[in-house]
Amino acid sequence: MKQTYISEIGKHLGEEITIKGWLYNKRSSGKLGFLEVRDGSGIIQSIISKKDVSEQCWNDSEQVTQESSILVTGVPREHPKRPGVYELDIKDLKIVHLAHEYPITPKEHGVEFLMDHRHLWLRSRRQQAILHIRHEIIRAVRDFFDNNGFILCDTPVFTPAACEGTTTLFEVGYFDEKAYLTQSGQLYNEATAAAFGKVYCFGPTFRAERSKTRRHLTEFWMVEPEVAYARLDDIMELAENFISYIVGRVLERRQEELKQLERDPAKLEKIIPPFPRLRYDEAVKMLEQGHAEGKLENRFEWGGDLGSPDETYISSQFDRPVMIHRYPAKVKAFYMEADPEMPELALCVDVLAPEGYGEIIGGGERASSLEFLLDRIREHGLPPEAFDWYLDLRKYGSVPHAGFGMGIERAVAWICGLEHVRETIPFPRMLYRLKP
Ligand code: 4AD
Ligand code: MG
Repeated sequence: MKQTYISEIGKHLGEEITIKGWLYNKRSSGKLGFLEVRDGSGIIQSIISKKDVSEQCWNDSEQVTQESSILVTGVPREHPKRPGVYELDIKDLKIVHLAHEYPITPKEHGVEFLMDHRHLWLRSRRQQAILHIRHEIIRAVRDFFDNNGFILCDTPVFTPAACEGTTTLFEVGYFDEKAYLTQSGQLYNEATAAAFGKVYCFGPTFRAERSKTRRHLTEFWMVEPEVAYARLDDIMELAENFISYIVGRVLERRQEELKQLERDPAKLEKIIPPFPRLRYDEAVKMLEQGHAEGKLENRFEWGGDLGSPDETYISSQFDRPVMIHRYPAKVKAFYMEADPEMPELALCVDVLAPEGYGEIIGGGERASSLEFLLDRIREHGLPPEAFDWYLDLRKYGSVPHAGFGMGIERAVAWICGLEHVRETIPFPRMLYRLKP
């Protein structure tokens, strides 16, 4: 019995092989059975004919239910009319375990039901396509930084202080102290960038977001590069090259999955540098015009942060990601460098994905002066003593530096063309979702 994975089946045409998998779906017509068999690497249509197999084998094929585990032995061949599509002529079939009343049937199910059965829903064609693309994106992320002189420096999950504001901290007991789950590895990246020059971290991050939107998770994976001596413009250039690279990799290697998701590749083929750049002021003008034309309900006031509808509106005006830079400092985090030409603006950038997806990257230049940073920490009501080590970076060889963070799930949602981030990670964590 020679086991073969379905993804490798093209190399074994005409040979007798065995697939170890599960029954995805079945239909039969009289003396012929059509079994869709999946093994994690793919799905193959397998045909069983009563006259070619033992009676026991035929009876098992009639009895076998959706998602039962099975061993299927047969000879693969190319589909007579569809080149590159393979089928298997079954010679033998063994049931490993018979599944009883698998809850996810081929009929339509509601989202809550599917989310409650996420541990099983992952077996569906659609979820497989999405998670294969997620994997490709993560591989591309690592390759991009590894091939461009960055070193991976992991940052801690338990942290003593806030990075992205105190309202979304998850507090946990840490022996006799309290700690917070990390919101971002950035502050630690700044230390490793001063040690190694070009660094990135990639890991889970946590935000106690009370928002129930299609973009928010409470646990998400973020990749964050940080570069010593880089300025805002350098980091914008890095961001556009980075995004173009990962989209290119998905186009190059995951066409089948994009097709499965009915994602139009032409939209992704447009993702090449340079990306349009808008100052915050220009974005505000665009929003005012959108409001005047009745396309945006709320009137946007200069000075505020962009809300989801605002981001959706702006990003739907472009076919490439748009980079909005120089927001008012007061709507951004404490560590942002001020624009020397207009100190009330921060040298920051948000990258909004097109087609209304909104922010996928946030980043910018970091404050490099000790006095300025101390002022900002106090203004934000943060405890300076929690940041003593961070302030050291401004005492010993401070340099301009910049970086950004990209949320993997938002990038996956956009690249796959999904409505909601809940399908972009195997087990999503959201406001009302901690199970399975
Ligand atoms: O804009 P944010 O808050 O930036 C930072 O955390 C910086 N410290 C990163 C840095 O400069 N090193 O978050 C960065 C990205 C967002 O653009 C978004 O893609 C993602 O993280 N993100 C979320 N993704 C899913 N659910 C949430 N609740 C998210 N919050 C942020
Ligand atoms: Mg942000």
